[in-house]
Amino acid sequence: MRVLFVCLGNICRSPTAEGVLRHQLRSAGLQDRVQVASAGTGDWHVGEPPDRRTCQAALARGYDLSAQRAQQVTPAHFEQYDLILAMDKSNLRNLQALRPAGASAELDLFLPRFGAALDEVPDPYYGGKEGFEQVLDLIEAACRELVTQIKGRA
Ligand code: 4NP
Repeated sequence: MRVLFVCLGNICRSPTAEGVLRHQLRSAGLQDRVQVASAGTGDWHVGEPPDRRTCQAALARGYDLSAQRAQQVTPAHFEQYDLILAMDKSNLRNLQALRPAGASAELDLFLPRFGAALDEVPDPYYGGKEGFEQVLDLIEAACRELVTQIKGRA
């Protein structure tokens, strides 16, 4: 199974989801069954590591995001991944517009699919520290449910 997380800049929310899911899969011994990556709908930060505040908040919870580099989502990703998960509704709309006809990937909104009460992971980029903690709280919980579902299928 191949999972691609997508946000706007690929420096805050989706790299966090990539790092958290990879960590949880390793803890569950499922790292060889699932391939994880992330991308942004925008191109402003391509090639950059995640945002410094994102890296700091993630590292405090044991997730090292420092090796990750931002990339922009392309139509080819719809063939390279089985499940593409958008962090908010605007990302989802942009992905729907980019999706090639007949592409194999399933496209969905991340949080509702995995049991969250909120529909969207709020963009923390222009806010304070607590926004980055909320991103981690939401993503950790939804990734736990994703891993539970994968375990159920194993
Ligand atoms: P992300 O956050 O989509 O969670 O990576 C953002 C990062 C950068 C920008 C916007 C959102 N930006 O406008 O540069």
